[in-house]
Amino acid sequence: MIRASGYATRLRISLYLRYNPLNLVVLYQCDLTRIFAFLSQIITLNPCRKRSQVRNMPYIVALTGGIGSGKSTIAQAFAASGVEIIDADLIAREVVEPGTPALQAIQARYGASIVTEQGMLDRKQLRDIIFQQPEEKNWLNALLHPLINARTRQLIGQATSPYVLWVVPLLVENQLQHQADRVLVVDVDEPTQLARTQQRDHLSVEQAKRILAAQATRQQRLACADDIIDNSGEPEDALPQVAELHQRYLRLAATKQD
Ligand SMILES: Nc1ncnc2c1ncn2[C@@H]1O[C@H](COP(=O)(O)OP(=O)(O)OP(=O)(O)O)[C@@H](O)[C@H]1O
Ligand SMILES: [Mg+2]
Repeated sequence: MIRASGYATRLRISLYLRYNPLNLVVLYQCDLTRIFAFLSQIITLNPCRKRSQVRNMPYIVALTGGIGSGKSTIAQAFAASGVEIIDADLIAREVVEPGTPALQAIQARYGASIVTEQGMLDRKQLRDIIFQQPEEKNWLNALLHPLINARTRQLIGQATSPYVLWVVPLLVENQLQHQADRVLVVDVDEPTQLARTQQRDHLSVEQAKRILAAQATRQQRLACADDIIDNSGEPEDALPQVAELHQRYLRLAATKQD
């Protein structure tokens, strides 16, 4: 979005001031984390900011955010405008459904007990194996990532809406931002994330904190953002932000060239 050259940066800032005065007011009312993220976008030599257009595909907006930040809630708001949602979590489950070659490979490596009586992958057991033998994660990633990638591209290629919203919780952790035309981060501070996750999943503070600690930090995520939705208020506070971004993405999608 914003290039490192001084001229481009100045140009961008002046356009921003001229055409987006309301955004600027909102920005200055935000906490320091978002101001820092904005500055890091301007100064950028940040590899996260380098994004090439994904050719021969609909315009792809990747939506990410930490656990409990509100990705699913926000995705529903986009879906209500007719945007097709591609959910990375659903695809990750689909590729290991009963009878799939991937599940058979996992069973061959870890034994029959890794599959439940219903034929499903025993995810808890798999998590325990990875916890005890972290190197097994590489084997699993090598098996699953190409399958997930291929299925994702297939679903995106079949989409008929002007752009697609690709919901990827671990976008930054898995360095997938280059596979999207635009990155949208749903942002809340960590206490809010913890509180909402605990309440939704009935977790202890320690459990919720452990999950958060295993994810990218808020700043790492914000450094990759082209756009940010502040979901710290009431659910309906996010709706005007969604509506504005939807219009922006329609415009960007219309100018995308294959
Ligand atoms: N603005 C909001 N105000 C209050 N509660 C909210 C708000 N947005 C979402 N929630 C609630 O917070 C919880 C987490 O939201 P949601 O499930 O959308 O997050 P998520 O980012 O998809 O989480 P995960 O990373 O686990 O997929 C849910 O119970 C949701 O109803
Ligand atoms: Mg979710």
